[in-house]
Amino acid sequence: METGYNPFSLEGKTVLVTGASSGIGREIAIACSRMGATVVVTARNEERLQATLDSLESSGQEHRLLVADLTSSDEMTALVASLPSLDGAVLSAGNSTTLPLQFGSRDKFDEMFDVNFFAPVELLRMMYKKKILQKGASVVLMASIGGTHSFMPGNGVYGASKAALNSFMKYAAREFASRRVRVNSICPGMVDTPLIHRGTITEEQLAEDAKRYPLGRYGQPEDIANGAIYLLSDASSWLTGHDLVIDGGFSI
Ligand SMILES: NC(=O)c1ccc[n+]([C@@H]2O[C@H](COP(=O)([O-])OP(=O)(O)OC[C@H]3O[C@@H](n4cnc5c(N)ncnc54)[C@H](OP(=O)(O)O)[C@@H]3O)[C@@H](O)[C@H]2O)c1
Repeated sequence: METGYNPFSLEGKTVLVTGASSGIGREIAIACSRMGATVVVTARNEERLQATLDSLESSGQEHRLLVADLTSSDEMTALVASLPSLDGAVLSAGNSTTLPLQFGSRDKFDEMFDVNFFAPVELLRMMYKKKILQKGASVVLMASIGGTHSFMPGNGVYGASKAALNSFMKYAAREFASRRVRVNSICPGMVDTPLIHRGTITEEQLAEDAKRYPLGRYGQPEDIANGAIYLLSDASSWLTGHDLVIDGGFSI
């Protein structure tokens, strides 16, 4: 029997997804379109971004693609100037390279913090200040269980950048509540995307590591997208300042 009851619907909402050319961000963009949202996708690589745009479902929504490097303040400014009013934003762009600390350098650490911490902070600041985020909008920051657990050796600075993001999320949630803008984060465990196949960890080590997850596997991008849908939808309208851990039980 068709009831039309769906508290998770995103119909009538416009949602920005960063990091939408790959992995978790791409899957979130696709899921948002399936739930009825108009989606604005952004990342640096136009070809991969176009592939995401081509995968979005539409029953009349006009999705958009905007190319920007979020570590460039000029490109960030141009991106913000092109954005429509938003009911939601998922800031998923990020990077991680598993690298033992002794092979790191201050430049590499700065790069990690630029893309994982300062880029989402700056984008959120500008979108709030320019009132691109409408009253009642929902923001989802992509953190990681690496911010609270040493989930994978060689990720100390990555983990610190995500811990910083999670801390910032709570302050932003408090500050933006006066305009009824909600800010939450998702802390995924290891999710099978191109990100985890970069760096020094071998496929054998990944397979061994997956056995540490009580639910017996790494996550799939869909596992994270479903959490993002909840946080973007009116089903979570009384939820702000929360870090939603989706990790197959790893952090138990
Ligand atoms: N996969 C995991 O196990 C896992 C676990 C916990 C948290 N996370 C977090 O989830 C988020 C998505 O990760 P993923 O696994 O989906 O990785 P991914 O497949 O490598 O995707 C990363 C995305 O970020 C974009 N990006 C990177 N640098 C950028 C920049 N300077 N400006 C604009 N966009 C940039 C990339 O697009 P372009 O290259 O086209 O710019 C890409 O779309 C990240 O924040 C990551 O830290 C992932």
